[in-house]
Amino acid sequence: MPEADGATEDSVLGSRHCPTFSVVRSDCLVFLAGLPDQSVDVIVTDPAYSGMNRHLMFGNGRIVGDYQSADNQKWFAEFHDDPATYRRFLEQCRRVLRNDRHLYLMFDSYSLLSLGALVRDCFDVKNVIVWDKVNLGMGHYFRRRHELIVFATKGRRKIARRDIPDIWRFPRIHPARYPTQKPVELFEAMLAGSVEPGDVVCDPFVGSGSSGVAALRRGCSFIGCDLSERAVEFSLARLEEFRATGRDPAQPRAARVEGESYGWLASAGVGARANAAILGVGPKES
Ligand SMILES: C[S@@+](CC[C@H](N)C(=O)[O-])C[C@H]1O[C@@H](n2cnc3c(N)ncnc32)[C@H](O)[C@@H]1O
Repeated sequence: MPEADGATEDSVLGSRHCPTFSVVRSDCLVFLAGLPDQSVDVIVTDPAYSGMNRHLMFGNGRIVGDYQSADNQKWFAEFHDDPATYRRFLEQCRRVLRNDRHLYLMFDSYSLLSLGALVRDCFDVKNVIVWDKVNLGMGHYFRRRHELIVFATKGRRKIARRDIPDIWRFPRIHPARYPTQKPVELFEAMLAGSVEPGDVVCDPFVGSGSSGVAALRRGCSFIGCDLSERAVEFSLARLEEFRATGRDPAQPRAARVEGESYGWLASAGVGARANAAILGVGPKES
């Protein structure tokens, strides 16, 4: 399994002063089972739910091509999110998360209704945040413009800032270099009130690595996995380039809405340069 810099998961987990990253090819349940108890500071993740496509047949050729075909580069394997498997996933998330920490789980509206209630069995659900993608996507009856993020805690922990809204407006990435690639800012919003530099951020469905870039921008280490070899290669190359150059090859421009205030995204802990990059006022793609 490829790993960054030969870094082992232990070295990533153990390094609180020099942020590192590791992405391995693995099923999420196998990956989480291999992590020690209480070893990560926050989980931010965007699972490949099968429910929406399987039950409503949204992917029937029109949205992402023939998504069930193995050689479809526009799509990826789905997580079999039956309630029993999803509960095992949540139990593992709870085990690896330190006490008094936060969890952010993305959902489409179908999966929220079918699986969202299970989150309560393992965590204290505090809010459901709306990601407003600004630009319309395809849709079933209605054109899709939002996704949902369940915010929950393990134990007690406040959000470090009091000014973060629960509707986040970041334009979706289009065209994207990886299917369903999310804006880095979306994950930064999850981290804004939930991490300090040196923390370990975990994402068991890494995809293109947007959550990893967000973690590095916050001065955090990152540990994640993906079932797809393509995702692992793509995300590792992206994180390497970001670390070496400060540029993000998969999202060269900030995803934000002109005139919208994003002051709440700035972090007190990471310095003016990083904040400038977070707010999209730093150096852009050359
Ligand atoms: C919705 S995408 C994540 C996109 C990512 N947030 C980004 O911004 O690029 C979900 C990812 O989960 C991966 N995946 C599917 N089943 C998985 C499993 N059982 N374990 C780990 N990863 C899986 C897919 O390969 C895909 O890359």
